Amino acid sequence: MNPDHPSDTSRGATPGTTPGTTPGTSSPLRASLHRETIAVSAGRPTGVGEPLNHPIVLASNIRGEEGVYARTHGVATWEGLEEAIGALEGGRATSFSSGMAAASACLFALAPRVLVLPTFSYLGVRALVNDLVEQARMQVRFVDITDTAAVVEASDGADVVWVETPTNPTLDVADLATIVAGARRTGARVVVDSTFATPVCAQPLQDGADLVMHSGTKFIGGHSDLMIGLVVAADEVLHDRIRHARLVNGATPGALEAFLALRGVRTLPLRMERAEGNARVLVEKLRAHAAVAEVRYPGNGAMVSFVVSDVDGPDGAAADAVCRRVRLLVPATSLGGVETTIERRQKYAGDAHVAPGLLRMSVGIEHVDDIWDDLAEALAG
Ligand SMILES: Cc1ncc(COP(=O)(O)O)c(C=O)c1O
Repeated sequence: MNPDHPSDTSRGATPGTTPGTTPGTSSPLRASLHRETIAVSAGRPTGVGEPLNHPIVLASNIRGEEGVYARTHGVATWEGLEEAIGALEGGRATSFSSGMAAASACLFALAPRVLVLPTFSYLGVRALVNDLVEQARMQVRFVDITDTAAVVEASDGADVVWVETPTNPTLDVADLATIVAGARRTGARVVVDSTFATPVCAQPLQDGADLVMHSGTKFIGGHSDLMIGLVVAADEVLHDRIRHARLVNGATPGALEAFLALRGVRTLPLRMERAEGNARVLVEKLRAHAAVAEVRYPGNGAMVSFVVSDVDGPDGAAADAVCRRVRLLVPATSLGGVETTIERRQKYAGDAHVAPGLLRMSVGIEHVDDIWDDLAEALAG
């Protein structure tokens, strides 16, 4: 998708998937529908007489002698979500109980001895990798994900290159196509944490990535009311390994969460379009603001990070004060909801490397004038 055109209605090329079909029911959806259409249509029962939405199946156990069980076989509620996300990304999706469960499944399935990881990426994934390194289960090579040559060099002799783009919280963007090409030459697998991009702004499998993962807790769910994770595999072999990882580790999603996440998918392109439009306006205003030293925006999506400064430079206390003064914006740590949230990140040990005054803002779908009035007042204070 062209990052300069938020509402680019690129068609969802979906090799290997047929959005919105249930085998043996009514006719399949046409291939190469627009992404907005896939988001609305994929993952529905299609048989005559069936409801339009998969029901919330609250069952761990299924009657019969075939040994069908929720953890091993899945339930229809998860399958609707997996079908829709798979269709949007162009691969085979598996749902998990959280984004971290999805990340863990990628590492479990690929079991890298040597992993390349962005130095500045989501602190939870770095904590997981640090634990695995301490347990002598893998080695890690940290890279600056914007230094493409260094990433390609590090992939030589590595088993997996972990890419997060844009990164949390500094919103760095990776040159994925070049990293994938480098990894192909050295035989490394590429996993992309695409949580901030969402399937609307990026489809990493189309750039050659092997696995793409999401914290569906964020934009996919979109309403700050659930935790869920997703992994989409480029091929059947990897898909089977991811399914196996879920089966043996048991990180299955709840049926209610899967239902709500799929409901979130239905409006994801629409919400992203509105939130991204708001983000672009706010970026311009922040860039022109005297109390803002730096604005980081990856060019699309709804995440904006900016550094608050006072006369002496970037300032953590001034940024904290902004979070205390906002009245509409919500000071909160998570992101991707319909409401605008804001947080100073350097207060976390895992993000100690970022500027003290860096505020990470997840732009919501409120009227942009109201967001700016609130933010401008907080900055002025
Ligand atoms: C980029 C990124 N990846 C993964 C995760 C983990 O997701 P969850 O909190 O759903 O486990 C997060 C959570 O903030 C995230 O921001």
